[in-house]
Amino acid sequence: MSVKHTVCLIPGDGIGPEVAEAARRVIDASGVSIEWVSLPAGAGAVESHGSTLPEETIRAIETHRVALKGPVTTPIGKGHTSVNVGLRKRLNLYAAVRPVRNLPGVASRYSDVDLVVLRENTEGLYSGIENEIVPGVVQSLKIATRPGCERIARYAFRYARSRGRKRVTVFHKANIMKMSDGLFLECARAIHAAEAPEIAYDELIIDNGCMQLVRDPSRFDIVLMENLYGDIVSDLCAGLVGGLGVVPGANIGDSSAVFEAVHGSAPDIAGKNLANPLALIMSGVMMLNHLGETEAAGRIKGGYDAVLSEGKPAELTRDIGGSGGTREFAEAIIRRM
Ligand code: NAI
Repeated sequence: MSVKHTVCLIPGDGIGPEVAEAARRVIDASGVSIEWVSLPAGAGAVESHGSTLPEETIRAIETHRVALKGPVTTPIGKGHTSVNVGLRKRLNLYAAVRPVRNLPGVASRYSDVDLVVLRENTEGLYSGIENEIVPGVVQSLKIATRPGCERIARYAFRYARSRGRKRVTVFHKANIMKMSDGLFLECARAIHAAEAPEIAYDELIIDNGCMQLVRDPSRFDIVLMENLYGDIVSDLCAGLVGGLGVVPGANIGDSSAVFEAVHGSAPDIAGKNLANPLALIMSGVMMLNHLGETEAAGRIKGGYDAVLSEGKPAELTRDIGGSGGTREFAEAIIRRM
């Protein structure tokens, strides 16, 4: 039996509690010893705790340093500010890491996708600084700081080196946002030249980058970009390999890490046992590797690879061609582990 870890579990909103429960069950079945601390966050936390992001949740993650998080709902155009943005800023989770790969048996237009979207997670237009200058005229500030741009660039090249990845491509719009995206580029170039010249480096204006991604995703290795671009391109890349149900993620800071899927709370399918739990389970695998529990992580990966390869409809969710549900998929993974 491995050492006991304490991990914060944030079920979240919508499909969050369903996929979080599935992921917890699979992780517990992997043989790793985890004490879960269940924490409130999201729209559902307002009623019980009077806040979408209670202080006890922040403090617990600061203490235990690792969390597995379900998605949370953010109202559109009004209402409370984003819990995700708040969490990432409060805990300084500056690097969003989203590996995007083809999976056995999961249909997609492409067969050779193996890339990582690296998103700066604390700056850009997600500063949330907006105001109405005069009636009918609003502004939204895009913030880029040299330390913020340097640390995500440094993270990208270190990540590339540690994972044996060969190329970092920056997506930007510095032809229009000459100062903010210009600073992002300037920092990436400088860190590349000074700290990782052996890694190939190139840059694409993001509109061209998106076109190149859908034409031939196999040419990309690590794609690095600021916050908003990373948010959008993550979903685009999920679409290259079978959708939001199969792409995991991690929000990494220097002191703590929060693992969560790329997808949102999917209110259209919430509470119906329809959500694909795999993205959060795969995020759990990233978490176990982060904790040094590589054997348990490997057992889970072996389990879901087997279920996907066998392709029995009753054991797969509908988004990937099955007829089963969240619970059936998780149980099938556990049986193969
Ligand atoms: P979404 O990712 O929740 O859903 C987009 C589409 O993908 C929907 O058709 C949904 O049914 C499907 N989908 C998503 N996850 C799935 C899964 N695991 N299995 C099967 N199908 C899945 O994005 P949407 O609808 O734009 O946002 C809904 C809410 O989620 C919003 O309040 C948004 O702010 C929030 N959100 C939260 C995130 C987070 O907490 N990390 C990330 C993205 C959105």
